[in-house]
Amino acid sequence: MAIVKPVLAANWKMNKGPAATAEFFADFLARHQPADDRTLVFFPPALSFAAAREATAGRPDIRLGVQNIHWERSGAFTGEISAPMAAEAGAEFVLVGHSERRHLFGETSEETARKVAAALAAGLVPVLCVGETLDERRAGRAEATVREQLDAVLGTYPADRTDSLVIAYEPVWAIGTGETATPQDAAAMHAAIRAQLAEAFGAERAAEVPVLYGGSVKPDNVAELLAAANVDGVLVGGASLDPSGHAAICAPG
Ligand code: PGA
Repeated sequence: MAIVKPVLAANWKMNKGPAATAEFFADFLARHQPADDRTLVFFPPALSFAAAREATAGRPDIRLGVQNIHWERSGAFTGEISAPMAAEAGAEFVLVGHSERRHLFGETSEETARKVAAALAAGLVPVLCVGETLDERRAGRAEATVREQLDAVLGTYPADRTDSLVIAYEPVWAIGTGETATPQDAAAMHAAIRAQLAEAFGAERAAEVPVLYGGSVKPDNVAELLAAANVDGVLVGGASLDPSGHAAICAPG
């Protein structure tokens, strides 16, 4: 299915078991009417995925993804899930390289590239997360860091699959901290990302790829972030856990 911008994505991280997932959607779906001028994606924990699928069964406007995959299709990788399994379970999207994976679990850019390739092979849309730490920003290395993280994937990404790629720029210092990049900061980084996509795929294909902003997005700052140039959507963590707040985020005026 096509990805219509803006993309409003919810990363629940390690929150909400199956019962809380069903409760969330009972409330959220009553508040949010289907709209074909945007794309809503939810990333529940893997164990709550079936509950999310069941709760949204009558609502094709709600699309689902998983928070992580292993790059192998199957095998002796205790605790992991694979891209084909996620696709079979009904996932259309997968987060790859979220900063918590990179910084808390040591995921490398080489691993993100393997995961992106595995996602594509299984028909999943990878949402590749990139972003600099506060130290990297202070050292004037924000754009260089993001460039390196993107380079690791774009170098081998097939140019004819740009309709199946989403990028999320999430400055690490803005995640879960209440600090948000200003719309100007976001626009500057998003312009750099767009330019790098254009180098890799040409301007026309680069324009197709949604580039989301993430990091302390809330109902009261979502509209100004979405209004920034080259910001095609948001990836929301903490604020997406509340059905009423997230419904406000998904209807940004
Ligand atoms: P946050 O998380 O909205 O809680 O800052 C965003 C994310 O990590 O995707």
